[in-house]
Amino acid sequence: MSNQQHNDPLFQPFTMGDLTLPNRVLMSPLTRSRSSQPGDIPNDMNVHYYQQRASAGLILSEATQISPQGKGYAFTPGIHSQEQVNGWKKVTGAVHTAGGRIHMQLWHVGRISHPELQPNGNLPVAPSAIKPEGAKTFISADSGMVDVPEPRALESAEMAGIVEQYRQGALNAQEAGFDGVEVHAANGYLLDQFIKSGSNHRTDEFGGSLENRLRLPLMVIQAVIDVWGKDKVGVRVGPTGSFNGMYDDNPTETFTAFAKHLNDLGIAYLEVVEDSFQGNHASGRPEDIIDAIRAVYKGTYIANGAYTAEEARTRISEGLCDLVTFGRPFIANPDLPERFCQNAPLNEWDDSTFYGGDEHGYTDYPTLEALETNA
Ligand SMILES: Cc1cc2nc3c(=O)[nH]c(=O)nc-3n(C[C@H](O)[C@H](O)[C@H](O)COP(=O)(O)O)c2cc1C
Repeated sequence: MSNQQHNDPLFQPFTMGDLTLPNRVLMSPLTRSRSSQPGDIPNDMNVHYYQQRASAGLILSEATQISPQGKGYAFTPGIHSQEQVNGWKKVTGAVHTAGGRIHMQLWHVGRISHPELQPNGNLPVAPSAIKPEGAKTFISADSGMVDVPEPRALESAEMAGIVEQYRQGALNAQEAGFDGVEVHAANGYLLDQFIKSGSNHRTDEFGGSLENRLRLPLMVIQAVIDVWGKDKVGVRVGPTGSFNGMYDDNPTETFTAFAKHLNDLGIAYLEVVEDSFQGNHASGRPEDIIDAIRAVYKGTYIANGAYTAEEARTRISEGLCDLVTFGRPFIANPDLPERFCQNAPLNEWDDSTFYGGDEHGYTDYPTLEALETNA
């Protein structure tokens, strides 16, 4: 370890269960829509991409559908078939060989889908039959962005099946060699739809009161803990996220209540998207909500959203977070920790290549070392 690393808050190791993270520069879950078709199967290009980023303190995989019903976009990978498990095994193997650690983000999109992507052309499912305002998806390489339709409200009797989808996804992730899993409860997908009042108008025990809205997410998290053990399960939330037509009447109350339950469950970490989906915190971070969550949640707190290295250092030093996930900077900089360590300039990301396509804008961003060799 260099002198600089000794003093840098980003390079203080962190223990999470039986994992030792060598740094606090974590990779955010990032959908890149480049799995092999048919079958939504991770491929060698995906292996290369993750392996290039293995110096992250921890990689959180792109959101991965736990079932055919959980799929919401063309080309996103799944974890419900043997071929997908085998594909992911190559990813986890390559990350481990390169000295890294990787969790899988478990995903059910709920209403953010389209009959073209659903088994038998079914309508997407949700807590309530409410069409998310402004939400779009893409259903094929040349479909462009299309509106998502009004979903079908799940029957009470279907909840056990949803929990089972997560349990099976968690088991499959274990078979695929991940170090743990992150339950995706942010960004307007199924569990966020249950949590937030704007999308959950149910009148059974899964809606209405705050405790009822939290019921299905907590059942899911418990099922995933039963598979993995609490030390290997994280949860991602986005209290103020409005992406995918989301709204909550009282995010502070909602998310402190949720955080209290998560604290009692003793999960590995809570990752908080501290603003909108793409980190556009124009009005600043929602400090009151962050403080309220921190007051009740005593476990590991991972911060996300438009962080720079400098802001991450400051907020870790001030005890406002333990770890930080970086999204877009990791897309463009496979060696992000090394760049932060050296205070080196960063490559800029190209958002035209975020979703879908080939190696371009995916595995061809240069490392510092490559830039220096070619200089
Ligand atoms: C291309 C792209 C794909 C994303 N995919 C996911 C995803 O699969 N799961 C998720 O929870 N968030 C996803 N996000 C949100 C990021 O994880 C992150 O919260 C956001 O980019 C803000 O962090 P940043 O400012 O460091 O990029 C995505 C963001 C981008 C730009």
